[in-house]
Amino acid sequence: MLLNIIVIGVIVLAAVGSVLVITKYTNLIPINTIETSGMAKMSNETVINLPLPKFKVGKLTVEEAIAYRRSIREYVSKPITLVQLSQLLWAAQGITNTRHGFRAAPSAGATYPLEVYVVVRDGGVEGLPAGIYRYDPYTHSLRLIRKGDYSLELYRASLEQPWVKDAAVNIVITAIYERTTGRYGDRGVRYVHIEVGHVGQNIYLEATNFGLGTVAVGAFYDDEVGKILGVGPDEHPLYIMPVGVPERQYRVSEEEIQEFILRNRGG
Ligand SMILES: Cc1cc2nc3c(=O)[nH]c(=O)nc-3n(C[C@H](O)[C@H](O)[C@H](O)COP(=O)(O)O)c2cc1C
Repeated sequence: MLLNIIVIGVIVLAAVGSVLVITKYTNLIPINTIETSGMAKMSNETVINLPLPKFKVGKLTVEEAIAYRRSIREYVSKPITLVQLSQLLWAAQGITNTRHGFRAAPSAGATYPLEVYVVVRDGGVEGLPAGIYRYDPYTHSLRLIRKGDYSLELYRASLEQPWVKDAAVNIVITAIYERTTGRYGDRGVRYVHIEVGHVGQNIYLEATNFGLGTVAVGAFYDDEVGKILGVGPDEHPLYIMPVGVPERQYRVSEEEIQEFILRNRGG
């Protein structure tokens, strides 16, 4: 009898424990992503599995990538590769912790308010048809939202900044504030804006790592960009990052930077 009670007690405790653990971790995974993935499996949506992320694809050290990062606005008319696009998206929002689903960029309370889209122009990415795609971090795949080349529309919506139309692709980052403000109230707005900066910098650094060029574009008509992406009223575009093969790469030497610092010290 006593043994039975102990056994039942242990089973109950284990069950409660697993429920708590599951709740803790599923809270960290944005519900919409789970729903989107599920829906995609049931419908005939076009899903493109990207090449799997790799750790040693570039040649630069982190310090070199930081030093060589520059806003680059002039691109040659050449495509980028699917491997490069895959690494850029992984650097932006890819999974870096398989247990909790944490991502490449930090997020307040792991609420992950950001969505990442790619506007691919005709011939922009080797082997990828022109279109607007949404990135799914969990499957590292692209879901086709709209077929066709929308780079000119995006260029017009971004105050006709030429680099938007000249780029091979434009990575557009949107925010669903409610995911973060739902937990942190008004302060969540600040957190979302800080987070998009982290994502932007990761894209800059990974682009530099591949010898590609990018520039953070914040000047655009929100409604127009939202319409192009086909997002709902709760989703707001924050950044457009054109990416292309640069006309020229930026380089600076360690010595140049050290001499600059020493000169400023008066040495
Ligand atoms: C929030 C934000 C918005 C920006 N918006 C634009 C933009 O709309 N168009 C553009 O050409 N550059 C834009 N930039 C890029 C800045 O002009 C650039 O970072 C600055 O000139 C410094 O150059 P660097 O990035 O090469 O260090 C933006 C940068 C930030 C951080």
